[in-house]
Amino acid sequence: MYLYQSRLKDQIIHSVKDVSVHAEGGVYTDAISGMFNVPFGYSCESIKQSIAQTLDKLPFHPKDHFYSPEWFDASAMLLKRAKMDDGALLYVNSGSEAIESSIAMALEYHRRKGNVQKRKVICRKHSYHGATLGAHSVTGRNDFSELRNSGYDTVRIHPPFPVTHDGKALETHSAADVENIILQTGPEQIACIIFEPVNHLKGMRQSPAEYLVGIRALCDRYDIVMITDEIVSGASRTGEFLNTHRYGVSPDIVALGKGISGGYYPASAMATSAKIASVFETRGAWIPYSYSHTYASNPVSIASIHTSLQVLEQVEASGQLQSLIGKAGELTRSIAANERVARIEANGLLIGLTLDERLGGGAGKKLEQLCFERKLIIRGEENWACLAPAYVMPEGTLAEVFEVLNESINQL
Ligand SMILES: Cc1ncc(COP(=O)(O)O)c(C=O)c1O
Repeated sequence: MYLYQSRLKDQIIHSVKDVSVHAEGGVYTDAISGMFNVPFGYSCESIKQSIAQTLDKLPFHPKDHFYSPEWFDASAMLLKRAKMDDGALLYVNSGSEAIESSIAMALEYHRRKGNVQKRKVICRKHSYHGATLGAHSVTGRNDFSELRNSGYDTVRIHPPFPVTHDGKALETHSAADVENIILQTGPEQIACIIFEPVNHLKGMRQSPAEYLVGIRALCDRYDIVMITDEIVSGASRTGEFLNTHRYGVSPDIVALGKGISGGYYPASAMATSAKIASVFETRGAWIPYSYSHTYASNPVSIASIHTSLQVLEQVEASGQLQSLIGKAGELTRSIAANERVARIEANGLLIGLTLDERLGGGAGKKLEQLCFERKLIIRGEENWACLAPAYVMPEGTLAEVFEVLNESINQL
């Protein structure tokens, strides 16, 4: 018995190369970068080499006594890219742990300031934050709902964009609605708000600029820690290192994962602003707020992050990423004309679409299947689907991806 089943069909995978997957059934084009976590494709030699060399000379040593040579540089690079230069950084192994650490840090931030009653966590419906119990309890999926609310004391809000479920339009909450909820609950009880600026479920929906700016202002007004989950949207996937930077908004805490290690090693992180970090520091000494994980920031994981950030800088400086983003925008606009598509948006290299309601509630999943039969890997559920091509995908390949996507939509 397996506790996790393959989404479509179990088959043996042989190897991966560039943006292709070689498996029993043939060669597939991967248009979602693994699980949104392999931005430089599967053949990035510099990341492979730095991992291999580190494995050879420094496979593991706990962080209690020493730092690996790349540790300071990787950490400074990450904090700089997150625009939190004077803040703090915590390495963990998975995105779920980064979420749990972010919430724990927000709760502890208030406790250390003497606001012990600030314990509630505002989180969104139709969200995904991870598979551990704490991350699950702030997630807003419809499945496994019995697990929800078993971790943190949550207040659930609706997303700021219109969504449907089983053909029915659901509520939306603007920043003004969120303020009313804060006031009804009592700001003195609210520790933090957590959300994905680009919502994975329901087809990669961008939170509008005014919402992001509005939530930032609410957090400042009511001393609420703003936590953004940029595990998918970070590492420049939507054009800037953090998605919220595109709108001039900086969170207090950001959870990062997936692409920061190029997908070659399990590594995630939580970064905080100086405002949060300062509460954990007395006369230059850092006061730990939690235990750490055995493997967090081990030398191999730091090497994978360090080299990935260098590769990211190269891909950005060469103009390759910007050019592919332009191409994705152009191809997305060409699909918008398809009357079976109710909405399609390219947010950098994060592309989300909603299918016309007349195609039924399971059209997204069916689209994923149709594409898979045609050797294209995308992700689809309910009436939505999404793509997240690698930053190094050749533009011609991206054009073929959209061709297969459009033809598969027409087959629905
Ligand atoms: C938006 C978002 N947050 C958090 C997570 C959890 O990350 P991980 O699977 O590394 O624990 C995911 C994973 O898909 C995610 O998409």
